[in-house]
Amino acid sequence: MRILVVGSGGREHALAWKISQSQLASKIYCAPGNAGTPGIAENVPVQDSDIQGLAKFCADTKIDLTVVGPEVPLALGIVDEFEKRELRIFGPNRKAAELESSKVFAKQFMERHRIPTARFKVAETPTQALRILRSGEFFFPLVIKADGLAAGKGAIVCPSPRKAEETVDMIMVEKQFGEAGKRILIEEFLKGKEVSFIVVSDGAKLQPLVTTMDHKAAYDGDRGPNTGGMGAISPSPFITPELFSEIINTIVFPTINRLREEGRTFKGVLYVGLMLSDEGPRVLEYNCRFGDPETQVQMVRMESDLVELLLNVISGNVLKSEIRWNAHASGCVVLASGGYPLSYEKGKPISGLREAADIPGITIFHAGTKAEDGQAVTSGGRVLNVCASEKTLAETMEKIYGAVSRISFEEMHYRRDIGALR
Ligand code: AMP
Ligand code: GLY
Repeated sequence: MRILVVGSGGREHALAWKISQSQLASKIYCAPGNAGTPGIAENVPVQDSDIQGLAKFCADTKIDLTVVGPEVPLALGIVDEFEKRELRIFGPNRKAAELESSKVFAKQFMERHRIPTARFKVAETPTQALRILRSGEFFFPLVIKADGLAAGKGAIVCPSPRKAEETVDMIMVEKQFGEAGKRILIEEFLKGKEVSFIVVSDGAKLQPLVTTMDHKAAYDGDRGPNTGGMGAISPSPFITPELFSEIINTIVFPTINRLREEGRTFKGVLYVGLMLSDEGPRVLEYNCRFGDPETQVQMVRMESDLVELLLNVISGNVLKSEIRWNAHASGCVVLASGGYPLSYEKGKPISGLREAADIPGITIFHAGTKAEDGQAVTSGGRVLNVCASEKTLAETMEKIYGAVSRISFEEMHYRRDIGALR
């Protein structure tokens, strides 16, 4: 089969890498890919948001399967367009993907169906937002979120009324997230451990993927601003078998079933971001796609065929696949550009990649990289993902940090406490 992976991050490199191990894959393309993907795939110069360009490429090149990494093309309706043209594609359609692309829709959906989540109010104007903030309905800290997609940066924890009012201004008046800030959510702040719970579903049945935990804050000790993820481990140390069943029964199945009943049948990867609060698991957010960097730690543990699984999801037979994982731990450390998640410089040459990749058991996925005259240079916030899967988490992280010490680029920063649990 000829398979296209849409996107250019570490998640997409990991998906292409896993797909390249499938007997079913004869040729792999990445649109647009990064400096790491040409080792296993052909990069195609079409951006992931160019739905018409991607559809044309797939029709012209006779692509048998397209796998979508990021949320933006899903929110733009790539699946609807491909299905209209009878091109096979993995991912939810636009209506189902609204669970991620509109936080207001997601919260109202959860409220309608009593799916546990933080208490919230929607504000349509700055005046309304200030009225809610001043009413005393929410204690501080509280969380303010832009309604639409904001690349993982649209949720702001506000410790004080002043910070909350500034945030309303920043989102609704200055429109720092553009149209995503037309409406906002004001939410109760939840305390607890955060876990990512990720399943594949054909719209009716589902299978969980191995559990993972993402480290979202920019700096060690979970300090600093939130990022897309500075590292991840698998399995999640916090999900006990009882909790696993509770999450499946009270959150994941109700989500899939109620979506179907509302005419939004969900086919693809459903990623539920959860806070394990004292009152039980609460949904923080839904994503309608694979996680990044969660996918990286899942793919290095997956032993069964990913392509077969994706095809079974598309054909409505998710339970036909037997998903097998190694019994080990896995980890991923993200090497980021200095300044990320705020502004950062690009174009820094990367050294030591070969030396790090030569360590047995190390897998490096590229994210924000591009090739310039045969040299990999930085081209994004999250630059590289250094991954391994060893018997224990401690061995895994030791191996990863050994490899990380061989890699450098100007102003490289990374967390030194991925997998160190508090
Ligand atoms: P979101 O964009 O909704 O996924 O939120 C991004 C991050 O903000 C989450 O991964 C949490 O770390 C944090 N967060 C979001 N909502 C809440 C909440 N209600 N209480 C505490 N932390 C939250
Ligand atoms: N790691 C967070 C995400 O994929 O949204």
